Amino acid sequence: MPPKILAFAGSSRRESLNRKLLAEAVEGAEAAGAEVTVVRLADLDLPIYDGDHEEEHGFPAGALAFKQQIATHDALLIASPEHNGGYTAQLKNALDWASRPTDTDRTGLGAFKGKLAAVISASPGLLGGLRSQTALQISLHKIGLTVIPENIALGSAHQAFDENHKIKDERSRRSTHAVGEALARATRALLAGKEA
Ligand SMILES: Cc1cc2nc3c(=O)[nH]c(=O)nc-3n(C[C@H](O)[C@H](O)[C@H](O)COP(=O)(O)O)c2cc1C
Repeated sequence: MPPKILAFAGSSRRESLNRKLLAEAVEGAEAAGAEVTVVRLADLDLPIYDGDHEEEHGFPAGALAFKQQIATHDALLIASPEHNGGYTAQLKNALDWASRPTDTDRTGLGAFKGKLAAVISASPGLLGGLRSQTALQISLHKIGLTVIPENIALGSAHQAFDENHKIKDERSRRSTHAVGEALARATRALLAGKEA
């Protein structure tokens, strides 16, 4: 069975640099034999998490769908834009909803537990959104994911892509593909270990 990877970005903007970066990493994962599902978080139509809303209306359909997608995949590939030195509210909101308990998931973290994640980022700034990766890694660790060391923080990203949304610089493109490949390989190894 090929490893199944769920890929999403913390921005749903049409021209999102992080969604373009994600697409490159997805190519790498697929080349390494993974089956990848790409989700656009805005399509989940999630309200901002609020305990009263949860109590009165239960789980929003989009949150449940996202949680189920995480549960049915073996690893996460996340492109994380940087907002004020952290990761975006859209990404935090989706992860917060997915971490809430349900009747079949008492801790709320069952879908994440023991799985791998890779984090990448792109920004017009020189650091390429690296600070958002650090902030996100802390949250991912808290909810039970292990983040692989391979990453890319693509700086000056507003100038990095051509008209076909491909990274122009060959070395950066290879490094981005390599993150997807590494996640596919590590996930395959983890699954093989679980079966053995
Ligand atoms: C509210 C806000 C805060 C931002 N803060 C940062 C920041 O701290 N560091 C940074 O590198 N870029 C920052 N940016 C610029 C984003 O990196 C840039 O808008 C990027 O294109 C967003 O990702 P996207 O293209 O995938 O939507 C910020 C943008 C916004 C809207």
